[in-house]
Amino acid sequence: MLTDGTTIEIRAARLEDCAAVRQMHAAMSPDNVYWRFFNMSPGAAEQEAGRVCREPGEGHAALLAWLGGQLVGVASYEPAVAPAVADVAVAVADHMHGRGVATLLLEHLVSIGRHRKLQAFTAKTLAANAAVRRVAGGMGLPAKQEIADGIIDLTFPLPYDDAESHLDSYLDAMAGRERLANVASLRHLLQPTSVAVVGASRRPGTVGRAILAQHRHRRLRRARVRRQPARQRDRRRAMCAVRGQPAGAGGCCSDGGPCGSCAGGG
Ligand SMILES: CC(C)(COP(=O)(O)OP(=O)(O)OC[C@H]1O[C@@H](n2cnc3c(N)ncnc32)[C@H](O)[C@@H]1OP(=O)(O)O)[C@@H](O)C(=O)NCCC(=O)NCCS
Repeated sequence: MLTDGTTIEIRAARLEDCAAVRQMHAAMSPDNVYWRFFNMSPGAAEQEAGRVCREPGEGHAALLAWLGGQLVGVASYEPAVAPAVADVAVAVADHMHGRGVATLLLEHLVSIGRHRKLQAFTAKTLAANAAVRRVAGGMGLPAKQEIADGIIDLTFPLPYDDAESHLDSYLDAMAGRERLANVASLRHLLQPTSVAVVGASRRPGTVGRAILAQHRHRRLRRARVRRQPARQRDRRRAMCAVRGQPAGAGGCCSDGGPCGSCAGGG
């Protein structure tokens, strides 16, 4: 889940994703291309697509984040020079920055790395790249930095067994992010900006009318309450509020119209 509660799909890259990966990188702003590749080469998107979408291998992993069928982020690692260490890279579509895509992708890469017994991830980034430094800082892993000639070498030791102390801080940070995302996903329900009451009857004493009255009574702050009267046939499909079953089931509403229990709609 992203910071606003939106759900994305994260899965391993496949050969057939090449076009989407190329397209996402080609659409990035020149600044973001420079942050990612340290150059503005026109061939960078093509090369990246080939690298990311090649056959999976033990030393390399590539994950893609999708939102509604659109590729919104790519994270991958390649073996570094040192044994059991991998170099990580990440890029997120420009319009999706700041919503937690990179953080989620990196969490998934960390899980893969730990599973494959990697001991550390490294990443090279331009010192001026504040966005990636914030993401690295927020992960909950004890990152080490070495700066030389405007380039930062980041190293994140991966917690390799369950007894390690920094595993706790990493899992705590991850749980904290998850909690915020969960809360955000419920915001539309708990702090609605508008409410539609379907099947609000004009007759006092009915369920739909009572729900509408409750909303009005509480004067939901900023919420716009819209009343949508149910038509006869909708009422027949509605739930019987008293019996807790579809209206019409078990003899209820058997004459085709709502029974006393179902008549309230809502
Ligand atoms: C660097 C880059 C990948 C960051 O991607 P992003 O998806 O915008 O990053 P995130 O949204 O995950 O992180 C942004 C912030 O959200 C926070 N965050 C993420 N998930 C969260 C959650 N569930 N709850 C609360 N905060 C969360 C992060 O800690 C970070 O904190 P900040 O507000 O202090 O900045 C992106 O800017 C990019 O593609 N840049 C160009 C390429 C590049 O520079 N690549 C890096 C070099 S390899």
